[in-house]
Amino acid sequence: MRNLLRLLAYIFIFWLIVIIASFSLSKNNKNNNNETHSVELDNFFLRIKGLELPENYTELRYPQSINISSISNITCSLLKRNRKHETSEYKPLSYGFDVYNENKFFTFASHKTCNNDNLFDVNSGVYSTKPGEMVDVFEGCKRSDERFGNNSLKYELSKGTEYKFGEKCEFFFAKGYKGQGDAMLRNIYMQEYAEKAKKYAEEKMNYFNTTNTKPMTVVVFVVDSISRQGLFRCIPKTIEFLNYNVIDPEGKYSKKFAMYEFPLSNSIQAFTVPNLVPLLYGISEDLAKEFLAEKDINKPEHANFFTELQYKFSLFEHYRQHGFVTMFLNDVVTDYLSKITGRVIITDHQASNFWKLGNKFFGYSDFNSKDQCIGSNLPHYFSLKYLKEYLHNYKGNNRFAYVHINTAHAGIGTRLNIADNDFIGFFNEVLREYKELDEDFTFLFIGDHGTSRGDFLNIDGFAERVNPPYLLLSNKELVFRLKAHYNLEMNAFRLVSKYDWHKTLKMLAMAPYIDQPSEQYLNGKKLDGTFMFQETIHENKTCDDAGITPKYCLSIKFIDIDPLSYKQKDDLNYYIQNAITLINKVHQRNGCNTVTLSQVLRISKLDLDLEQELPTTHYLILISTNEDPNARFLIHGTTALSNQFNDLKVSGDFVILKKAPYKRVGKITYHSVFKIWSVSRLDSVPSNACENKVKYSKRYFYTEKNESCKDLCKDHGFSCSSPTFAHMILGYLAEMGYDIQKVGFDNSIEIVNGIAEVGKGDSCVMKYKGKGLCQCGI
Ligand SMILES: *[C@@H]1O[C@H](CO)[C@@H](O)[C@H](O)[C@H]1NC(C)=O
Ligand SMILES: *[C@@H]1O[C@H](CO)[C@@H](O)[C@H](O)[C@H]1NC(C)=O
Ligand SMILES: *[C@@H]1O[C@H](CO)[C@@H](O)[C@H](O)[C@H]1NC(C)=O
Ligand SMILES: *[C@@H]1O[C@H](CO)[C@@H](O)[C@H](O)[C@H]1NC(C)=O
Ligand SMILES: *[C@@H]1O[C@H](CO)[C@@H](O)[C@H](O)[C@H]1NC(C)=O
Ligand SMILES: *[C@@H]1O[C@H](CO)[C@@H](O)[C@H](O)[C@H]1NC(C)=O
Ligand SMILES: *[C@@H]1O[C@H](CO)[C@@H](O)[C@H](O)[C@H]1NC(C)=O
Ligand SMILES: *[C@@H]1O[C@H](CO)[C@@H](O)[C@H](O)[C@H]1NC(C)=O
Repeated sequence: MRNLLRLLAYIFIFWLIVIIASFSLSKNNKNNNNETHSVELDNFFLRIKGLELPENYTELRYPQSINISSISNITCSLLKRNRKHETSEYKPLSYGFDVYNENKFFTFASHKTCNNDNLFDVNSGVYSTKPGEMVDVFEGCKRSDERFGNNSLKYELSKGTEYKFGEKCEFFFAKGYKGQGDAMLRNIYMQEYAEKAKKYAEEKMNYFNTTNTKPMTVVVFVVDSISRQGLFRCIPKTIEFLNYNVIDPEGKYSKKFAMYEFPLSNSIQAFTVPNLVPLLYGISEDLAKEFLAEKDINKPEHANFFTELQYKFSLFEHYRQHGFVTMFLNDVVTDYLSKITGRVIITDHQASNFWKLGNKFFGYSDFNSKDQCIGSNLPHYFSLKYLKEYLHNYKGNNRFAYVHINTAHAGIGTRLNIADNDFIGFFNEVLREYKELDEDFTFLFIGDHGTSRGDFLNIDGFAERVNPPYLLLSNKELVFRLKAHYNLEMNAFRLVSKYDWHKTLKMLAMAPYIDQPSEQYLNGKKLDGTFMFQETIHENKTCDDAGITPKYCLSIKFIDIDPLSYKQKDDLNYYIQNAITLINKVHQRNGCNTVTLSQVLRISKLDLDLEQELPTTHYLILISTNEDPNARFLIHGTTALSNQFNDLKVSGDFVILKKAPYKRVGKITYHSVFKIWSVSRLDSVPSNACENKVKYSKRYFYTEKNESCKDLCKDHGFSCSSPTFAHMILGYLAEMGYDIQKVGFDNSIEIVNGIAEVGKGDSCVMKYKGKGLCQCGI
C-alpha cells in the first residue's frame, strides 16, 4: 500500500515536470519560429557541460618536486593502459577500444611459423651456404647501391656450393633448387663511419668549449599504424617486462634507466607521411612538397633535390653534424615516405635493398596483411637484429638510429602480437648491454599514427586511428644531468605532437656537449614545438597549436540540439520510429507489452569529418514511452555516406539500417546510410518485471557495497563494458536529482551520499564503496 502511494506520488511529480517542461518547450518554439532552435532549453533534462575536476585534484597527481637532489630520487610511474587524462583544451572524445570492448574487433588471427630452411652456415662471423647444397645466391655489399622504397633493383644470381659471403656484405639470399630459400641481414662495422663521427664530435667539443663528453645513443623506433591502446593490446608481455624491470624500483634495470609515457598524443593525420615529415624534418608534409614541387624520385637527375631537403631539415644531417654515426632502416617496399626523402638517405647505414629482395624472393610487402616470412624468419626479426648489432658495433661512438617497422600494418595486430617475445628479448639485450656502459641512452618507442582497423566512423575506431603511443626510455644520469625529470613527468599530462618530438630530438643531439641545449645553436633556425626535457608544454595547448589537421583532432564533443527537431529530419525520425519497432519486436518475443513513444527528451549530436559534403553524424537520442513513465531508452544512430561504413551487415536485435538516396549526379545516385547501432535501457530496474529480462544493447545496474561491475554484469548474463556516452548517462542521473562531481580521470560512476562521483577508478573492476553504476552489454 505504502509502495503504491509512493509510486502514485512519483507519477504525479513526473507528470507535473513533463507538463512544465512541455510548456517551456512550446514557449521556446513560439519565440523562436525559425528552424534551428537555441540549445538553452529551459526544461528538466539537464545537460552536463564540461565536467571540471576540483582544482587541487590534478595537481596532486603532478610531479611534486622540481629539484631532484640525487639520481636515486628519480622514480617513474608504471605504464598503465587506462590512463585517461585530459587538459583544459584537449579532451579526447574516446581513448580507443579498451580491454572491455575490444574483443569483437581485435581477436588475433592464427598464423603459421616460417619454414626453417636454414641454408646458411656461420663460422666465426663468416657466413657461407651449407656444404653440399647447390644454391643461387645474391649478396648486397655496397652502401652506395641502397635505395629506399619501390624501385627496381638490378641483381644477378650466382651459383655455388659452400658459397662464402663477403665480409662487408650486409645482406644475402640463397635459393635452393627445391624452392627453399633463406636470407640474412646484418650490420657491418665501418671504421670510416666511426672515425668521421669522432672528427665531427671533436669539432663540436671545440665549438661548445668542452673537453668533457660521453658517448650518447639516440634511437627513434617507429611502429607503423599502431594506436596507444594497440601497443598495450598487442605486446602486453613487453609492457609488463618494462614495468617490472625498468620502472619498478626493484627492477633489474630501474637503477640505471627511467621511462616516461605520453598518453595525450594526437597524430597530425591518420596516415604515415604527414606524421613522419614533421618528426624527421620539423616541417609539414605540405611545405616539404612545396620545396619538391614537380620533382620525381625515379629521375636520377632529380635525386639532389631530395637529398638537399634532408641536408636542410632532417634529423639525420643534424645528428651527423653533432658527431653521431647514423643509421636508417625502414622495412618498406612501397613508396610513401620515399616521395619526400627520395631514395638515397644521407645516413651512414641504410638498410633498404634487403626488403626489396624479400619482396622478390619471398613475396614480402609492408602492405600485405597475411603471414609474412623472409627466409627462416619473420620480418621484424631482421630489424631488431640489425639495430642491436648497430648499437653494439659502434660502442664508444655517438650513434643515432631511425628504425621504422610495419609489423602492425595488418590492422588487427596479430603480427605485432607474435613479436611480443622478440621485443622482450630485444629490450632485455639492449638494456643489459647499456647497463654496463658508461654512456647516455635515449630510446623513443612511438607510433606514427594509430591502428587502421576500425573505421573512422566508429568513435572508438576513430580514436584508435589518431592516438599513437609515445614511450621514452633514458638513462637516469642523463635525465638528472639535464634536469629533465620534472618536465618529462609534467609533459605526460600534456598534448604532445610530432613537432615536439622533432625539436626534442634536435636539442638532444647537443647533450653530449652541453647540459642546456638551446635553439641559439641551431644556426638561426626556429623550431615549432617544445624541448620536452627542459620545457613544459602549455596546459592550454590546442590541436591547432600542435599542428594537427582539424578533422583528425580527437578533442571534439557531442552537442545538444533541439529534441523537437527530429520532426523535420528523415534520419532522426527513422531512428526513433525504428527503435520503437525494434523494442517491440523483442518485447513481443519475450511476452512483454508493447510500448509507444511519449517524448523525445534529448538529442545529442556529433559531426565527424566536417570537410565532407555529408559529414558523418552520430546521434544519441533519449526517449520516454507512454506505458512506463520511468522508462528511458537511449538510441545511438549514425547518418553517413554509405562508403564510410566498413561493413553494412546487420546483426543483433537492436541493429538496423537503411540506405537512403542522397543525391543524383547524372545517372548515378549517391546513398547515405541511416544506421541504429544500439538501443539501451537507462532506468536500471524496469517496473515491469517482464521487461527486466530483455537484453537491450546496454543495461545499467547498481552495485551493492563492495561489489564490482564485472561480477554484477555477469550475474545478469551480460559482460561489463566501460561507459560509452557518459554525458548522456550523467544527464539522466542529473534528471534523477543527483549532483554530478568529477573526482578523477578514470571512467567509473558511483553514487555516494546522493552525489554521482565520476572518474575515481576503472568502472568494471573497482569495488564500489557506494553504489556503482554498471554498464552491462551483450
Ligand atoms: C533564428 O533565430 C536566431 C536566434 O533567435 C537568429 O539569430 C537567426 O538569425 C534566426 N535564423 C533565421 C533563419 O531566421
Ligand atoms: C581539495 O579541495 C577540496 C575543496 O576545496 C577540499 O575539500 C579537499 O580537502 C581538497 N583535497 C586535498 C587532498 O587537499
Ligand atoms: C631549485 O633549485 C634552484 C637552484 O638550484 C633554486 O633557485 C630553486 O629555488 C629551487 N626550487 C625549489 C622549488 O626548490
Ligand atoms: C631523495 O632521496 C633521499 C634518499 O635517497 C631522501 O632522503 C630525500 O628525501 C629524497 N628527496 C626528495 C626531494 O625526494
Ligand atoms: C666558446 O668560447 C669562445 C671564446 O671564449 C666564445 O667566443 C664562444 O662563444 C664559446 N662558445 C660557446 C658555444 O659557448
Ligand atoms: C612498385 O612499382 C611498380 C611499378 O610502378 C608497381 O607495378 C608495383 O605494384 C609497386 N610495388 C609495390 C609493392 O608497391
Ligand atoms: C596558454 O597559457 C600560456 C601560459 O600558461 C599563456 O601565456 C597563453 O596566453 C595561454 N593561451 C591561451 C589561448 O589562453
Ligand atoms: C570487501 O571485499 C573484500 C574482499 O573481496 C573483503 O576483504 C572486505 O572485507 C570487504 N569489505 C566490506 C566492507 O565488506
